[in-house]
Amino acid sequence: MSAWLCIACTALSPPHRLSTFDVAPPPPHAPVDPHSYANTQAFRTRHLALDLRVDFEQRVLEGTVELHLQRLDPTAQTLVLDTRDLQIRSVEAGDASALAPTAFVLDPRDPILGSALRIAMPAHADRVRIAYATQPQASGLQWLDPEQTTDKRHPFLYTQSQAIHARSWIPLQDTPQIRATYTAHIRTPPQLLAVMSAENALDAVRNGDYHFHMPQPIPSYLIALAVGDLRFKPMGPRTGIYAEPSAVERAAREFEDTEQMLARCEAIFGPYRWGRYDLLILPASFPYGGMENPRLTFVTPTVIAGDKSLVSLVAHELAHSWSGNLVTNATWNDFWLNEGFTNHLTYRIMEEIYGPDRAAQERALGAHELRETLARLDRDGDKTLTPDLAGRDPDDGVTDVPYERGALFLAYLESKFGRPRFDAFLRGWFDRHAFQSVTTAQFLEELTRELLDKSPDTVTPAQIQAWLHDPHMPADTVWPQSDAFATVDAARAAFLAGANERQQLDTAGWSPRQWQYFLDGMPDDLTAAQMKALDRAFGFSRSGNAVIAARWFRLVARHHYTPAYAAMERHLKTIGRMRLIVPVYRELAATPQGIKLAQRIYREARSGYHPIAQNAIEQVLADGAKSGSG
Ligand code: BES
Ligand code: ZN
Repeated sequence: MSAWLCIACTALSPPHRLSTFDVAPPPPHAPVDPHSYANTQAFRTRHLALDLRVDFEQRVLEGTVELHLQRLDPTAQTLVLDTRDLQIRSVEAGDASALAPTAFVLDPRDPILGSALRIAMPAHADRVRIAYATQPQASGLQWLDPEQTTDKRHPFLYTQSQAIHARSWIPLQDTPQIRATYTAHIRTPPQLLAVMSAENALDAVRNGDYHFHMPQPIPSYLIALAVGDLRFKPMGPRTGIYAEPSAVERAAREFEDTEQMLARCEAIFGPYRWGRYDLLILPASFPYGGMENPRLTFVTPTVIAGDKSLVSLVAHELAHSWSGNLVTNATWNDFWLNEGFTNHLTYRIMEEIYGPDRAAQERALGAHELRETLARLDRDGDKTLTPDLAGRDPDDGVTDVPYERGALFLAYLESKFGRPRFDAFLRGWFDRHAFQSVTTAQFLEELTRELLDKSPDTVTPAQIQAWLHDPHMPADTVWPQSDAFATVDAARAAFLAGANERQQLDTAGWSPRQWQYFLDGMPDDLTAAQMKALDRAFGFSRSGNAVIAARWFRLVARHHYTPAYAAMERHLKTIGRMRLIVPVYRELAATPQGIKLAQRIYREARSGYHPIAQNAIEQVLADGAKSGSG
């Protein structure tokens, strides 16, 4: 390993400043990334310099990117980059002293991967500058009209680069095996503020001209930008909130424990290496719960429930500062190394901050969702931690399996080796692989060296293989239990036996998780009278907790409970978070009457959804139609 010069730093500060990051040479057997065309054996991007104008009228980003490359193959004559739906205007190549126009070709578009951009590289060239523009339908951008924002006064733009959408707004090597620092110059309408997954100046003058610098090398899927009428409010010394004006205060109250989560996580898993940790609250159409963009997690407003009941999402995105952002899955087939690890860390942090009862409830809910998902998935490979996503959209690999099966695997290892030893193992993993990408094979090797070999009779290699590759859950899975859910099971049984008035059921003091569990455990054959009794007694259709509402509307769709259809339609039309709407669409799509309604609602809601959510819902509706509902 060699200390190297941070090109980003030289742009902004004295040229002799050395980066504190050691970037390892490419691993000798770096796996082929089936989701990138980039020829990373010949060139590796070390730094990007972006210069973009944000044009809300045309819904276009336009400008240049300069890629500073490390040339690994002195004879290479072509640089291959990933793009999707980009308009490439010109390309120059050369080195730090001069760039000159060079030839390029854009391959035909693959529906999943986009178009390879092939650039002729003169001998010794290690730099390119590309002038380009995005298209309004770019898969990684959502352009919102003022009416689609929280405050309805200004337009909003945000990016979502994971998994392979960075290529729809920047031509680059779009693989998690490449890490680069970046600088950016972003021009916006003067009344709007731009923020990025980089150093954000807390005192930025709002003038439409913004400069960013990301000194830590990150994979392409973590490059992020948002532009809107944003305000900032600090929460702690290292944490704060960016949000539209009317949302700042509420969000700052909801997430006031963030600083403490950060401190706890550091105490267990090692130093936080990213400087600040801020949250950006997005408009409700954001297709995810959260996205761990470094230094600036993007968050759906649907987790602001008013009672901190959904803050595990912040613990999760924060935990990615170790698992994912620092130690990164080498390909999307290794996704569980990002999400399973992160879920394990999330449960650990939740236990530290809110106690073992709450953590046990969250674990049990996660396991419950995993069982439902395993029952629904067709392909055996998708039930394992080692799916093969080649030829498929990596967004299809985002199910509960990598998250919850991954976390159960790590909890299993923790139960075998003891928490102190397992925490120390994880901390070592983060230290040894900081700012690198990792494969499942590497994990296995290290687990064997650090734990299995040192305590031979604890876990067998066959057990580990089953956890990774067997579509069935291992027989010795420790399924999480929560006493709080035993009470709920009793109340549900009483309800189903006919006790359907609020006073007859002992629900006083239930946590939102208990309510979710209450609904999730309902049988498939509730009568309309029972649905009515539920809504009358507990007002689920009016729930202020979007997760509980989503579970309720799933039941509404499943049982064709028409009195709640108007509320369900409102839910589907005001929220874009896929986890809260796709399951409802899936239920509707399962029957002929349901799918008609789903198609109509989708037609009317579509323009408000993110392109990624549009894709996911169209898939669900197509599957429903195929299986005879249409
Ligand atoms: N990194 C993911 C979101 C993601 C995954 C985006 C794959 C694109 C492709 C993020 O950290 C996440 O897991 N979000 C969850 C949050 C939850 C598990 C607490 C979500 O959005 O629901
Ligand atoms: Zn995650």
